[in-house]
Amino acid sequence: MNKLCLLGLVVSLASQSAFADTPAAPLQDKQAFIANLLKQMTQDEKIGQLRLISIGPEMPRERIREEIAAGRIGGTFNSRTAPENRPMQDAAMRSRLKIPMFFAYDVIHGNRTIFPISLGLAATWDMQAIAKVGRTSAIEASADSLDMTFAPMVDIARDPRWGRTSEGFGEDTYLTSRIGKVMVQSFQGSSPANPDSIMAIVKHFALYGAVEGGRDYNTVDMSLPKMYNDYLPPYRASLDAGAGGVMVALNSINGVPATSNTWLMNDLLRKDWGFKGVTISDHGAIQELIRHGVARDGREAAKLAIKAGIDMSMNDTLYGEELPGLLKSGEVSQAELDQAVREVLGAKYDMGLFKDPYVRIGKAETDVKDYYADQRLHRDAARDVARRSLVLLENRAQTLPLKKSGTIAVVGPLADAPIDMMGSWAADGRPEHSVTFREGLRRAVGDKAKLVYAKGANVTGDKAMFDYLNFLNFAAPEIINDPRPAAVLIDEAVKAAKQSDVVVAVVGESRGMSHESSSRTTLEIPESQRALIKALKATGKPLVLVLMNGRPLSLAWEREQADAILETWFSGTEGGNAIADVLFGDYNPSGKLAITFPRSVGQIPMYYNHLRIGRPFTPGKPGNYTSQYFEEPNGPLYPFGYGLSYSDFSLSGLNLSSKSVKQGQDLQASIVVKNTGKRDGETVVQLYVQDVSASMSRPVKELKNFQKVMLKAGEERTLHFTLKADDLKFYNGQLQWAAEPGEFRVQVGLDSQAVQEQSFELL
Ligand code: BGC
Repeated sequence: MNKLCLLGLVVSLASQSAFADTPAAPLQDKQAFIANLLKQMTQDEKIGQLRLISIGPEMPRERIREEIAAGRIGGTFNSRTAPENRPMQDAAMRSRLKIPMFFAYDVIHGNRTIFPISLGLAATWDMQAIAKVGRTSAIEASADSLDMTFAPMVDIARDPRWGRTSEGFGEDTYLTSRIGKVMVQSFQGSSPANPDSIMAIVKHFALYGAVEGGRDYNTVDMSLPKMYNDYLPPYRASLDAGAGGVMVALNSINGVPATSNTWLMNDLLRKDWGFKGVTISDHGAIQELIRHGVARDGREAAKLAIKAGIDMSMNDTLYGEELPGLLKSGEVSQAELDQAVREVLGAKYDMGLFKDPYVRIGKAETDVKDYYADQRLHRDAARDVARRSLVLLENRAQTLPLKKSGTIAVVGPLADAPIDMMGSWAADGRPEHSVTFREGLRRAVGDKAKLVYAKGANVTGDKAMFDYLNFLNFAAPEIINDPRPAAVLIDEAVKAAKQSDVVVAVVGESRGMSHESSSRTTLEIPESQRALIKALKATGKPLVLVLMNGRPLSLAWEREQADAILETWFSGTEGGNAIADVLFGDYNPSGKLAITFPRSVGQIPMYYNHLRIGRPFTPGKPGNYTSQYFEEPNGPLYPFGYGLSYSDFSLSGLNLSSKSVKQGQDLQASIVVKNTGKRDGETVVQLYVQDVSASMSRPVKELKNFQKVMLKAGEERTLHFTLKADDLKFYNGQLQWAAEPGEFRVQVGLDSQAVQEQSFELL
């Protein structure tokens, strides 16, 4: 047998072994299987596994298939149906070692059925609802052949100028950690190998939400205690929940880009946290090391990234181009290469792809005929979750709920905006599936009430802003400009208002305004829409503002104009129906803010769990030399945890099981919550803790637990909370995680501001 034949035999045995479970590579033993496969791989094939390629205009599909067949691509993203992905997997099966590809996509808040944006999901404070989102997304995405999602995004956001605030779960560490965990578990199900599971890639590691000035992609400079106490726990919680991978952030951390940050990825992630999954760079991040000023050229960038622990290079050119030379010169070792390849193969193994490369692609005969068929959507789930995400901010003189009678004016540039309904990162959601607000209202009233519609204003009258927002979406115009003069649009809306009993104005941001690369210098509703609100107010008709936006807005002025304000975020495919459910009282609103709404942009950063200081501003006792702004009232407009209901709820009798507790012991807290209103409804009882005196200043309060409860009108219930020993711990100046003896305060409220308090002593 000549050498070639021998090689052929080995290859054919190996490739069989990849799927046939032979003794040479027992599929049931992950490590042995991967080690065996690794031994058979050429250097080029190994490098190929580290390359994640975007399916887009950059490379023709035919060329991609050739590259895959040659073993030069490990996975792709952005192609999202079985007919698109099957030929690529077929190409992988033609490659020498038949190593399967994986197919990834940004499934953030739904795949085809679009749920509310993440900031809206967080406002549900409802882990079952959130699990429904993750599970439904996984079922839809896997049915469409996807193996992996770049989610959840658990970056804490305390600067709402940052456009990606919409994509995360708000400002709080505990709430975001809980949600991250649920998202991971529901995406992955009992195992990421299941045919209806997708692997979760937690992002953006780390601290992306803290970019300076809210400017996307900017630097992050942060003390270690703040990092460890506030920003890192959500990533950790998501990984501990079993997430298969991590996407590395685009920002630098204390001067070192995350992508070349050995401390971040080796010391913290791998060594301290024991993470065993795959790490993926963000789009183009390795190349960007040059512009960060830490790499001289592409070669050095690739070297820094792989040495720091980036396994896969997203939208790769540099790993493909530079690793061969770096390996040849010995600057990158075989061991370093093998380690990265091992993680990628491990992720593929965990996704069940070695067992069956077509586990999610399925057979061509079973491909659905119409991927975009309405029957494929999960509309009931979307409507249920969307209504839970809506936050009632104001309701003067019981303006809401509205009656399904008389005439209702529906105005505003977002009242009939199917694209905006979905919010940014809407995966494969289709605007034609969106129920807009106008449509939802129409369905809800049937022939019981008359609706009159007028657009009233464009989203923005600023040409440059308009062009920017439309530039963001290459496929179709994001926002459509009504060319009529602003005054004409307003007149039309005023006419509609005058013939109506109540006016509902749907205003705020178009979805592109709260997106990647959409940082803002103001949190105001654009002037064109404010002029509309002013004119509507002048009609004297009851005015309801339905807000659509992906970040806190500064609403001090709007609050004075409106009789009621409902925050609806971007509420997804069923948004219009869900909003109508709430406006007419078919659903009693229960959402609570997961992020503080400041009065003005100048107050930023403003978050509820800030550290204590020596000269705090005390409401009602202004005076000089306290920490305050003298030009406007201090404190937020709407605090974290805030949200109204059509019912009223009261809390009483906060009780602790003991006045003191020993280290390591739990403490019980109980409180009575009562629905004092006339309607059944849900509320969120929030438990906060303050460490009164410690080795370093601690936050004024920190959320440690909550319960969302449904109470019938007049019903009262005692809720029990367990305060665990770990709930009292924090990372001190030496980064030791410990609880320090002394006084603690337990605070319980229906938002983060109005709380009841009891103290105990940690011995
Ligand atoms: C974003 C990531 C996203 C990736 C792939 C990047 O621009 O920062 O969050 O997963 O693109 O779409």
